[in-house]
Amino acid sequence: MIDSAGHPGTTFDVRVLRQDEPRSTSYWQRFRLKREPDMNVISVLQQIAEAAVTADGKAVAPVAWSCNCLEEVCGACTMVINGAVRQACSALVDQLLHDEPQGIELRPLSKFPVVRDLVVDRRRLFRALARVKAWIPVDGYYDLGRGPLQSQEAQEVAYPLSECMSCGCCLEACPQYTRIELTPLSGESQSDFRKREQESHDQAFMGVHAISQALLFNAHPTGQMNASERNDALMAPGGIQGCGNAQNCVAVCPKHIPLTTSIARAGRATTMQMFRRWFDA
Ligand code: SF4
Ligand code: SF4
Ligand code: FES
Repeated sequence: MIDSAGHPGTTFDVRVLRQDEPRSTSYWQRFRLKREPDMNVISVLQQIAEAAVTADGKAVAPVAWSCNCLEEVCGACTMVINGAVRQACSALVDQLLHDEPQGIELRPLSKFPVVRDLVVDRRRLFRALARVKAWIPVDGYYDLGRGPLQSQEAQEVAYPLSECMSCGCCLEACPQYTRIELTPLSGESQSDFRKREQESHDQAFMGVHAISQALLFNAHPTGQMNASERNDALMAPGGIQGCGNAQNCVAVCPKHIPLTTSIARAGRATTMQMFRRWFDA
């Protein structure tokens, strides 16, 4: 908050969009916090956790959030901060209050079901990586010796893609990636519910993060063995044809991954595979 002399005050307000449990109604709560040097949004949430009292003096449950690495590597702390999707650990309070002196607003990602407060269920994001087999298969744990070499040029193309931290910023910004939140049917077992949920995830647009990771692993000398399976997954329902090419994703990726280039390259790879199959048939 700005004081009467126009200087940054010793306190500031944080509005948090809260939700007590999955599928319950969300509500806003405002907290007034002590301003300390070099705060980030994680330290804001830690201060709330130490004494969870709203700005009007009501004791409440501490706000729930996820984090892990605290250095913008794991993607776990991704949320919507003052309207922009980003990582809480690298969102600095001084900068946020400089840009928006009225305070800081925190919301959970809107494209995933809320578990509690700022914690969301990102299983769909990881399921998409499984759909495209975003890994290098290993045939056991014995020493296979040195793998094939990769040229410097190939490494330079692959490295930026390898920086993806599965944060979900690209999905939050993507108009084609819409939230799926199913409600358990009466008498439905947990495993049946999970199966139904996975089926609906597999029909929906997988997201550009998975498209980009398919390219990364297709380019790997060992990963190439599964390239046609990955391309098949990209051509299946919910694959690359779901991308409307709005290009919002590339603008918000905190790792500056060339996502639109990945989409174009994936389009070419899948088209080539389709033609090869026609001519081989
Ligand atoms: S280019 Fe495709 S993946 Fe990126 S935001 Fe647009 S629709 Fe989504
Ligand atoms: S592509 Fe970028 S925005 Fe999308 S999940 Fe990976 S790091 Fe996050
Ligand atoms: S805690 Fe890992 S990216 Fe923020």
